[in-house]
Amino acid sequence: MYLQSSPILALASSGELFRQILPFALAGAVALIALHLLLALIYRGNPAPRSKWNWWDVLIYLGTLGSVAVLGVTAFVAVMRTGELLGWMLFFHMFGAGALTAALPVLALSWAHANRLELRPAAGGGSRPPKFFLLSRLMFWVILASGFVVTMTMLVSMLPTFGTDGLLTLLNIHRYSGLVLVIAAVMHFYSVGVQRVGLQ
Ligand code: HEM
Repeated sequence: MYLQSSPILALASSGELFRQILPFALAGAVALIALHLLLALIYRGNPAPRSKWNWWDVLIYLGTLGSVAVLGVTAFVAVMRTGELLGWMLFFHMFGAGALTAALPVLALSWAHANRLELRPAAGGGSRPPKFFLLSRLMFWVILASGFVVTMTMLVSMLPTFGTDGLLTLLNIHRYSGLVLVIAAVMHFYSVGVQRVGLQ
């Protein structure tokens, strides 16, 4: 078969490569956050005014972060311990999956406007200050894009369209887009914290 004919593709599709990359990717994200925090502390200025969150913002944010946390912990702990996601971990992964599939469209509809990436502030001086600073906005779009990919890879896997190689490729895309989603969610959470304590 095509995948078995190449040792590199076989390693990648088995999930072993992902297992080896995972701790470095997570450590890299923590290092980036530490670096950003250091720079934010060194170049500390007056924080820009921000609009306050309402109860709906808090609810949808906690729902999204909670489901990503369940998905990330179940998947990564299982992969690091046994090399694959099976049994109770897969069972709890499915709870997170249902919650994220419901939360993502609501998050997109609720927050897309507040996370617009504008090259220049809109003319006419908007009456309300922006809710998020640049890092939060960027991470919001990464969360939406990777969340869409992570969900769709599993949903289209249920169609009787893909053969064994296709399903393994989809699972691989699922793994890496899930990793991107977890890192983006952690960075978003950090960016909100930085904003809260008045560093941005
Ligand atoms: C933060 C989001 C997510 C992360 C980090 C994540 C991570 C992973 C990883 C690493 C695996 C492969 C484990 C292995 O190598 O055996 C996996 C498997 C799986 N994931 Fe996710 N996932 C996420 C979201 C989702 C969502 C939203 C769904 C459903 C819509 C889902 C459904 C599944 C299923 C069914 C499997 C088992 C696939 C199989 O073994 O054939 N995951 N996930």
